[in-house]
Amino acid sequence: MRIFFLIAFFIGYPLSLGFAQDVSKNYCISCHDDQWQDLKNSIHGKQGITCEKCHGGDSTQKDKELAKAPSTGYVGVPDKNQIVQICGTCHSNVEAMNFYGIRTDQLARYKTSMHGKKLFNDNDKNVPVCSDCHGYHDVVDVTDPTSPVYPLNVPKTCNRCHGNEKLMKPYGIQMDMFAKYKDSVHGKALFEKKDIGVATCVSCHGSHGALPPGVKQVADACGKCHMNEKDNFLKSPHAKLIDQGNFPQCVACHSNHGIQPVAVTLYDQACVKCHQPQTVAFKEGQKIKGLLSKAQQDLQTTQQIVKQASIDGLFVEEETAILEEAKTKVFEMGPMQHTLSYTNVAELAKQVDTKTKDVQNTIHEKRQSLQMRKIALWPLWIFIIIMMTVLCIRYKQLSSNHDKKH
Ligand code: HEC
Ligand code: HEC
Ligand code: HEC
Ligand code: HEC
Ligand code: HEC
Ligand code: HEC
Ligand code: HEC
Ligand code: HEC
Ligand code: HEC
Repeated sequence: MRIFFLIAFFIGYPLSLGFAQDVSKNYCISCHDDQWQDLKNSIHGKQGITCEKCHGGDSTQKDKELAKAPSTGYVGVPDKNQIVQICGTCHSNVEAMNFYGIRTDQLARYKTSMHGKKLFNDNDKNVPVCSDCHGYHDVVDVTDPTSPVYPLNVPKTCNRCHGNEKLMKPYGIQMDMFAKYKDSVHGKALFEKKDIGVATCVSCHGSHGALPPGVKQVADACGKCHMNEKDNFLKSPHAKLIDQGNFPQCVACHSNHGIQPVAVTLYDQACVKCHQPQTVAFKEGQKIKGLLSKAQQDLQTTQQIVKQASIDGLFVEEETAILEEAKTKVFEMGPMQHTLSYTNVAELAKQVDTKTKDVQNTIHEKRQSLQMRKIALWPLWIFIIIMMTVLCIRYKQLSSNHDKKH
């Protein structure tokens, strides 16, 4: 019985906020079946949010003129400014949204975005409003794979405008971000591996508050996911340039939309953009590059040695474990080199060196002792062969003596 009241309470609660409508007495729907078919299965339709919640009008009137009389607040098809108000009013209502556990800051954030500023300050109607990113009659949950803002679909949703030359040309901003992104390490992980944890347009720019991260915010935008790189970068000599606003942080070396998988050759390509090859800074980079290359090379060689030893029948469990530790150290060197401190990286490099040498030495010793055991067997074999020959000769003698007797 109590359960029944509880259920009734939870169903009744949103109804009490006035979303639910008796659809059979809604005359907007009787005349507008097309729109109702879209709305019916949307996240709003399922909550009983019907036409007049967004369009105004009196849904209890059968007559078209009465339904849309000026006194009913009928707005017709809303323009962009009205859409932001219509969607935003419900969605910024903490009391109404509380029950659904949905954030209520979309409109507030939108106002801080370049999109919102253009709309409100310049009345620029080329910018997106809520419905450009979410749809309107057929809005679904943002975690639904068919949603235009589901991570796999975000780049296309943004690119509808940002890749549209006619629309974007007057603004004089880049238009090739989608092409670059698709080819980047992030884009490939998203589109090919379907990894939705990877960076899409909104992870770096924000969704409702979409802005290009300023020179000072880049490390924070990337650091949401690459925390160790960020922490170490902030210890580098470049960090003090952030306040001067002329070092674009991560982007300085990795670019923004077309970020590629890394390799030590980045030390040759990225540093020369700002440092001449004969400078201390460039040379420091080359020294760190040397440490990284050597550690990566040592790890690879040792991995091959262990693999071959295992194929040759040696027990390599212990060595595999040590090698795993060496691999972890090589991984740690990746974020660590962002300090650009030779000493810090050298410390890790030394551990890789010790561990790989250890493994190589023990494998070498194991091979030698196997060899020794094989050599130690030789006298035994010689003894057996001699014994066999002696026995053979003895047998022949015995059998010829036997023949002679007959
Ligand atoms: C008796 C039938 C009828 C009823 C009831 C009715 N409509 Fe309509 N509605 C129409 C027709 C027909 C059109 C298209 C012709 C026109 O623009 O007047 C239309 C057009 C519209 C448009 C598009 C207007 C435009 O400028 O293009 C909207 C929005 C709309 N209706 C919403 C509603 C809402 C909301 C309700 C309920 C409050 C409602 N209608 C009730 C028949 C109806
Ligand atoms: C969640 C808010 C919302 C609800 C609910 C809603 N609409 Fe709309 N509707 C919009 C918005 C926003 C637009 C304008 C989209 C644009 O032009 O970008 C629109 C556009 C329209 C249009 C113009 C033609 C079109 O389809 O684009 C008609 C007609 C219409 N709505 C009728 C209805 C009717 C009838 C209902 C109820 C069955 C309804 N709407 C429910 C938000 C809503
Ligand atoms: C430029 C595209 C864009 C615009 C414009 C936009 N949204 Fe969103 N919205 C998104 C994306 C992307 C998400 C997915 C979650 C995220 O990344 O924040 C989202 C998520 C949401 C959610 C789910 C809860 C949340 O905050 O995560 C709601 C509700 C929502 N948007 C409502 C709105 C409303 C209301 C407006 C207009 C004031 C609006 N959106 C404008 C792209 C947009
Ligand atoms: C009458 C109030 C109301 C209006 C107007 C309204 N919404 Fe909603 N919206 C809701 C409610 C309530 C939910 C939550 C439904 C649920 O979670 O089952 C919701 C859910 C959503 C979601 C899904 C949130 C999530 O967590 O995935 C999005 C996106 C959204 N609305 C966008 C819009 C857009 C875009 C408009 C304008 C075209 C709009 N809403 C207008 C009440 C409203
Ligand atoms: C309906 C078209 C449209 C859609 C969809 C759209 N944008 Fe925009 N966007 C614009 C316009 C127009 C501007 C204004 C350009 C300007 O003033 O520089 C803009 C500006 C921006 C800016 C600021 C650029 C600058 O430096 O001035 C960023 C960042 C941005 N959009 C990101 C996004 C992201 C991320 C998405 C997808 C979630 C998106 N946009 C979806 C039209 C769109
Ligand atoms: C890995 C992070 C990241 C991703 C993913 C990303 N951006 Fe950017 N974007 C940036 C940074 C950082 C800037 C600032 C420019 C700079 O400093 O180079 C920028 C700049 C922009 C600008 C302003 C361009 C200008 O000329 O002023 C727009 C518009 C934009 N991005 C849209 C997008 C769109 C659309 C997508 C998805 C296809 C996207 N971005 C994906 C990081 C990202
Ligand atoms: C939403 C999380 C997220 C954000 C934000 C993000 N990344 Fe990534 N990044 C990832 C993931 C996940 C991968 C691994 C992709 C893969 O599977 O190859 C990755 C890969 C990379 C790689 C390649 C690493 C390698 O081993 O080759 C670089 C470089 C990189 N990101 C730099 C950046 C920079 C610079 C920014 C900011 C402008 C940034 N990322 C923003 C999640 C993110
Ligand atoms: C966007 C330009 C830019 C890029 C790219 C860049 N640096 Fe720098 N770097 C600077 C500036 C500016 C300073 C401080 C002024 C100075 O002393 O030259 C600096 C300082 C340094 C310093 C401190 C020593 C010194 O000379 O002051 C080191 C070390 C350094 N950079 C190494 C590197 C390495 C290694 C790379 C490549 C992985 C790199 N930098 C890429 C701009 C850059
Ligand atoms: C001065 C140039 C420079 C700056 C600034 C820089 N990186 Fe790197 N980054 C590199 C180089 C060089 C490598 C490749 C080293 C290697 O092959 O191991 C690298 C490697 C990476 C990797 C690959 C995984 C790893 O740690 O080895 C990621 C992810 C990454 N950087 C993210 C970032 C982020 C996020 C920022 C900003 C907080 C940033 N980087 C700033 C030069 C830079």
